[in-house]
Amino acid sequence: MRDLARLGETGRDDLASLHRDLLDPPAHAARPHIALNFVMTADGRVSYRGRAEIGSRTDRQLMFHLRSMAGAVMIGAGTLRVDPFAPSTVGRDPQPLAVVVSRTGDLPLENRFFRHPGPRLVATSASAPPARVAALRGAGAEVAVFGETDVDLVALMAAVHGRGVRFLLCEGGPTLAGQLLAAQLADELFLTHATLITAEPDARRLFEGALAPAGTARVQRLTLHASPDGERYERSALRYGGP
Ligand SMILES: NC(=O)c1ccc[n+]([C@@H]2O[C@H](COP(=O)([O-])OP(=O)(O)OC[C@H]3O[C@@H](n4cnc5c(N)ncnc54)[C@H](OP(=O)(O)O)[C@@H]3O)[C@@H](O)[C@H]2O)c1
Repeated sequence: MRDLARLGETGRDDLASLHRDLLDPPAHAARPHIALNFVMTADGRVSYRGRAEIGSRTDRQLMFHLRSMAGAVMIGAGTLRVDPFAPSTVGRDPQPLAVVVSRTGDLPLENRFFRHPGPRLVATSASAPPARVAALRGAGAEVAVFGETDVDLVALMAAVHGRGVRFLLCEGGPTLAGQLLAAQLADELFLTHATLITAEPDARRLFEGALAPAGTARVQRLTLHASPDGERYERSALRYGGP
């Protein structure tokens, strides 16, 4: 195992020193550098009873640390429907752009996202009913259309890049992550391997939806850390194409 380090149970000091290269990320044409962040059960699922309550406190602190370095943090509508989402960092100015991707625009207006102290963007398509778009705007979000039926993620990333974002963290869920993978837009994967086994039938896998056109991707591990309870934190580059 390369670069295996021990993290404390809370590990705040150690965590803060990790992955700081993301403050000066690789440059890409017309899009930010994009990393996915997920926690997965020991039996390979990313949802449990419809939510993501899988990891430990250290896993959450790692997520907060990654957020603190991101210019934008993005999730899909399915995740917003089950989890509060406001990716703010105490004392940071400006706060990161919070992005939610939704075809329907059918989002819970009481979600913390609508009170995020930074800019809040709902990326939707022309198929979103105008009344829903108006409700989202009324609740305090900026709403922008990026495609006829689906959100064109390349166009969305170009717009986010145009706002000066150099590093975007996508916190799922698996449908949105599957689409980023299919579009070969995801550069990195932060994957926490939790110690929990749920053996829950039909729970979500890391990527839902096909890799299109039929293809494969590979993870190339960059770092691996572990906490004393056995939870592991893996950072990998994603490589596309090839056999
Ligand atoms: N373990 C983890 O780290 C983790 C992380 C995140 C989420 N989760 C879990 O994952 C589950 C949710 O899964 P999910 O697959 O439903 O989540 P999701 O990917 O967050 O949401 C899917 C929804 O996002 C929208 N969407 C995604 N790509 C789109 C595109 N290209 N164009 C337009 N809309 C797009 C659609 O919204 P509309 O329905 O509005 O059209 C779609 O139904 C929850 O149980 C959550 O707790 C786990």
